[in-house]
Amino acid sequence: MILPFIIFCLNYLSTFDSILIDTMKTHTFSLAPLQGITDYHFRNLFNQYFKGLDSAYTPFIRLQNDKTIKKSQLIDILPENNSELKIIPQILTNDAEEFIFLAKYLNDLGYSEINWNLGCPFSMVAKRKLGSGLLPFPDRIGEILEKVIPELPCKLSIKMRSGYEKDDDILKVLHVLNQFPLTEIIIHPRLGKQMYKGTANPDVVEKCLEICSHKISYNGDIENLENFQVLENRFEKIDSWMIGRAAISNPFFIEELKFRLKIPAVKKMERFSDFHQALFESYEQNLSGPGHLIIKMLSFWEYFSLSFSNSKKVYKKVKKAQSISQYHAVIHEIFNEEVFVG
Ligand SMILES: Cc1cc2nc3c(=O)[nH]c(=O)nc-3n(C[C@H](O)[C@H](O)[C@H](O)COP(=O)(O)O)c2cc1C
Repeated sequence: MILPFIIFCLNYLSTFDSILIDTMKTHTFSLAPLQGITDYHFRNLFNQYFKGLDSAYTPFIRLQNDKTIKKSQLIDILPENNSELKIIPQILTNDAEEFIFLAKYLNDLGYSEINWNLGCPFSMVAKRKLGSGLLPFPDRIGEILEKVIPELPCKLSIKMRSGYEKDDDILKVLHVLNQFPLTEIIIHPRLGKQMYKGTANPDVVEKCLEICSHKISYNGDIENLENFQVLENRFEKIDSWMIGRAAISNPFFIEELKFRLKIPAVKKMERFSDFHQALFESYEQNLSGPGHLIIKMLSFWEYFSLSFSNSKKVYKKVKKAQSISQYHAVIHEIFNEEVFVG
């Protein structure tokens, strides 16, 4: 029994011509939601071309003023667009009725778990006591959950920052959250007012682990194997990790973390180029006009370029493309002349 399994593992690893650099551990990895980036095109192709992803969260969905969901958000969560990977749709609301409506709607589509966004830092959102703007109001969070939990047809997880202005917001909120059934709490230990500046603060997570009765998933600034190992060694209780920007700029990152592989740069370039082509074609079929397509691809290159040794030059080159033929020429040049460092 054991021999076929070993052969399977060796075959699997050899397909990537990789070097095993550590023993395997059973961590789970999710793809963070990034509005405008991790839509269903990206999620599906990411999962098809790279290994190691256990689940992905959708960028947040919210009800508009007329209580409908934006068409692009509806398309993004359609079951037929999300059949390959475990997807957890995320909602943004501070209203119990809306919360229940969205949960039932998503459950009817087949989703067995949803995620509540208590992290969005944008002032337009936060000043309306949404996202991270709700964190200074633990009683309000408790009132919402009090009404929502008995009506929920599905499981609930929460993604949150450490506070809006103060790190101790999270500690008060966690005392409230301990009273409710939740599958997990994903903590991005940055303040809302920081936006994406400064660094994530793991000391906050240390305190959270002491008081939180729920499973905690860590998110924020996991950028390379070295800093992941520091976190992994520090937080033995945590085995669930969410990765955002580093997985977009280096789509091999989760695969390398999960299987402790170092994939040779040449192999990376080939696979990355195939992934890029598939991504381009997927948007080509769905976006109207070359302008939209180039802007869309440029938004990915803001991240992809970071994985090339000459990242500024690479991004500048893509930015200059004014037509689809110029875009193809620039990409051809990048894949042939620039070095993918991951
Ligand atoms: C452009 C952008 C869009 C984002 N959109 C969302 C979102 O819709 N929902 C959410 O919970 N977090 C969102 N985030 C936050 C990320 O999910 C993640 O928490 C953050 O980037 C920290 O993780 P990282 O350092 O691994 O990227 C967004 C971040 C960025 C940069």
